[in-house]
Amino acid sequence: MEITEPRIQAYCENHSSPEPPALSKLSRDTHAKVLNPRMLSGHLQGRFLSAIAFMLKPKRILEIGTYTGYSTLCLAEGLSDGGHIVSIERNDELQTVHEAAFGDRKYDIRMLYGDAKQLLMGLEGTFDLVFIDADKSEYEEYLNLIEDLLKPGSWIVVDNVLWDGHVLEPEQDMSEETRSIHRFNEKIRANTKYEVVMLPIRDGLSLIRRL
Ligand SMILES: C[S@@+](CC[C@H](N)C(=O)[O-])C[C@H]1O[C@@H](n2cnc3c(N)ncnc32)[C@H](O)[C@@H]1O
Repeated sequence: MEITEPRIQAYCENHSSPEPPALSKLSRDTHAKVLNPRMLSGHLQGRFLSAIAFMLKPKRILEIGTYTGYSTLCLAEGLSDGGHIVSIERNDELQTVHEAAFGDRKYDIRMLYGDAKQLLMGLEGTFDLVFIDADKSEYEEYLNLIEDLLKPGSWIVVDNVLWDGHVLEPEQDMSEETRSIHRFNEKIRANTKYEVVMLPIRDGLSLIRRL
């Protein structure tokens, strides 16, 4: 199911600033050479992530699910001086793609390769902004694991919270993945430690503030 009417989506893209050239190239290369290019955030969501990062000016960003690094670069645009982004990716075959995309060292991007659930347990300090975009059936676990990495005023952005509209299906017909996302959406809405707003951008983005 299209979440946003395609012409509205196109109008929004056409009336947003264009992607920086490095991001158009990364998007083209991903579509040409990497499996599942649909996973990439893309123009509109990318500009939105960049805007969020510029508004927050975070010192430390955590990203769960790098893929080819498109969202990593969008988020990094808004880092404050001396800030860095830690990005976690299970698929270490993407390492050469990351080296090509981040190799100019324009931003301080620290890649961690391995399973997010393991790696999150080893992280220390707090993050100003966390972007959750890895395994959809693990969102609740990621939330539990990042709890100690947040402080009041930290923000979490969660991708794919509408899962192609499948979250509207009757619960008994939902796939395991849809059920997990729906359960995550329900739990975060009921959790008094957080304030959440869900937006129908691309496949659904929730913006969550740690109170
Ligand atoms: C939707 S893609 C991320 C897209 C990227 N954030 C962007 O917007 O361009 C999800 C990525 O998460 C990775 N992933 C899935 N489960 C993971 C896990 N348990 N630990 C680490 N990475 C994982 C996948 O390999 C995939 O590259």
